Amino acid sequence: MHVASVGVSKLCFLSSLALCGLLLILIPAFQAPQSRRGDRPRPRAQTRPSWVGGSGPGLAAPPGHLRRSGTGLLQERSAETRVSASGDHEPWRGGGAHPHRGGPDGGLLLGGEEGGLRGLGGGSRDPLDPKDVFIAVKTTKKYHQSRLALLLQTWVSRATEQTYIFTDGEDKELRRRAGVHVVNTNCSAAHTRQALCCKMSVEYDKFIESQKKWFCHVDDDNYVVLSSLLRLLASYHPSQDVYLGRPSLDHPIQAAERVKSDGSVSVKFWFATGGAGFCISRGLALKMSPWASLGNFISTAEKIRLPDDCTIGYIIEALLEVRLAHTYLFHSHLENLQKLPTDTLLDQVTLSYGGFENRRNVVGVEGPFSVAEDPSRFKTIHCLLYPDTDWCLARTAGGNH
Ligand SMILES: *[C@@H]1O[C@H](CO)[C@@H](O)[C@H](O)[C@H]1NC(C)=O
Repeated sequence: MHVASVGVSKLCFLSSLALCGLLLILIPAFQAPQSRRGDRPRPRAQTRPSWVGGSGPGLAAPPGHLRRSGTGLLQERSAETRVSASGDHEPWRGGGAHPHRGGPDGGLLLGGEEGGLRGLGGGSRDPLDPKDVFIAVKTTKKYHQSRLALLLQTWVSRATEQTYIFTDGEDKELRRRAGVHVVNTNCSAAHTRQALCCKMSVEYDKFIESQKKWFCHVDDDNYVVLSSLLRLLASYHPSQDVYLGRPSLDHPIQAAERVKSDGSVSVKFWFATGGAGFCISRGLALKMSPWASLGNFISTAEKIRLPDDCTIGYIIEALLEVRLAHTYLFHSHLENLQKLPTDTLLDQVTLSYGGFENRRNVVGVEGPFSVAEDPSRFKTIHCLLYPDTDWCLARTAGGNH
């Protein structure tokens, strides 16, 4: 009897010990989200709206402009979410302490930048060198004369060092104008998933080879506002895991997991719509290598049977567990572009225009060119951004005759 009761109290003692142990394990686990949140480079997210709002002449915009700039989807999102990731969407992997903070310069640099951003309400102490950005423009031979020529005349002329054109057919005139910055992918010219993934795969490999710090992909119907792009990228560090773009839906996509498992389980992930453009830091791009480099991108896309931009999201969100930083500064022709407030246009990172299907879907902007002369409005935007351009000056002078 005595022995038995000792056994029972021992059992009680042991189980209370176990309970205490469990509590000790659980308490930090519950507290972790809060303390982690404190570790995140939050000040950046908070300061971002102030400079995203634009500090350049005539670019001032109310803080709410980003919300209005959307397609109407996701309007309920908070200011922070609109500009960047927040809550469960922070751009840093895993939500824990920053993996690069302990690195040789990462910690100091990040701390400095945060302080700098907060103090100056804008500029970063680690300004991004424009030549560190790699901008891949995806096109097809059919659009060299129409779409691509317009880009070469406008924004690409101001970003020749950064821009690489990925196409599917040799073009002597284009080669003469852009030289080694034209990449013939040798991919099919068909608008199929396979052909598009083939191009994305070549874009990825060329970026890795370039040693540049940021990979940005755009389509041949996008206008890139370089100052806005650089401002956005400068608020992150290229060694961080950064995936920036416009979510194409208001909910994550669900797909069968066929890379890590046999497809019996499904995964949910967000992806940035390719038609609006997106950017990836070098740090993250390097981690994507097993599924993206040297043709692996094509086999990854084949496994999950999804388009190129979804596959990028799948690799980053589902396989690497890095969150897409949701930004509504990127725009595709699928949105109602007329809804974009005119006074915020030059603050956007990318713009677009409706194709042959919807010629009227353009941004609303007045300038030296009429809608008949400049149906995409890209020339007008360009003249507002760079009034010193010779053909803009000629136009203004010509208007006086
Ligand atoms: C496409 O084919 C040409 C000719 O064979 C070759 O020189 C070029 O490197 C190929 N492009 C790519 C991206 O592999």
